[in-house]
Amino acid sequence: MSNIHILEHPLIQHKFTLLRDKAVGAKDFRELLSEISMLMAYEITRDFPTKEVEVETPVAVAKGKVLAGKKVGLIPILRAGLGMLDGMLRLIPAAKVGHVGLYRDPETLKPVEYYCKLPTDVANRKLIVVDPMLATGGSASAAITLLKEKGAKDIILMCLVGAPEGAATIQRDHPDVPVYLAALDERLNDHGYIVPGLGDAGDRIFGTL
Ligand code: PRP
Ligand code: URA
Repeated sequence: MSNIHILEHPLIQHKFTLLRDKAVGAKDFRELLSEISMLMAYEITRDFPTKEVEVETPVAVAKGKVLAGKKVGLIPILRAGLGMLDGMLRLIPAAKVGHVGLYRDPETLKPVEYYCKLPTDVANRKLIVVDPMLATGGSASAAITLLKEKGAKDIILMCLVGAPEGAATIQRDHPDVPVYLAALDERLNDHGYIVPGLGDAGDRIFGTL
């Protein structure tokens, strides 16, 4: 799938493997998720445009580069997306943050929207939608549709782990949106959980198991 990118960096893979372990409690889960998010942010920003500038060091003038592209907006999908926010903000501290609240109906597996608060200038920003889980893809697809309705044109989706079904949903609904994952797993089970996955991300982050 052309728009799906797996981030193979050894540190991302190592920490993600630790995170999957069911014995990891909420404190360590949050810490690992934050570290992985920071590393993923580092990887997905490697092609961001730069421009040359001059800077005066204590010794002489040096040529250097600074970021030159659109300003960034981070869009965590509540709740679990919040677990990826602080790691990303550590690398992109000037980003504005918009929140989209969606939960997946346990019967229909369809996303239900309950909150949306976005920066006013999403149309002019590069938006990074973050959510650890891309299962059916319904939640991420709905969040991206909502952002496009507000005028957003430049959107990236960053999830920790996806199922083939979720990746296909984003490819079908939003072929313009690149998807970055630490892992693409085997399948969904009958309850719409990713197999092998990591369980319920929101519950593991917030200790509501
Ligand atoms: C989880 C996860 C995604 C969604 C993925 O959220 O954080 O948002 O499920 O599933 P999908 O791809 O099939 O839509 P959940 O609905 O459990 O809500 P929570 O984050 O509040 O726990
Ligand atoms: N949401 C989760 O938190 N985990 C899954 O495996 C699927 C959806």
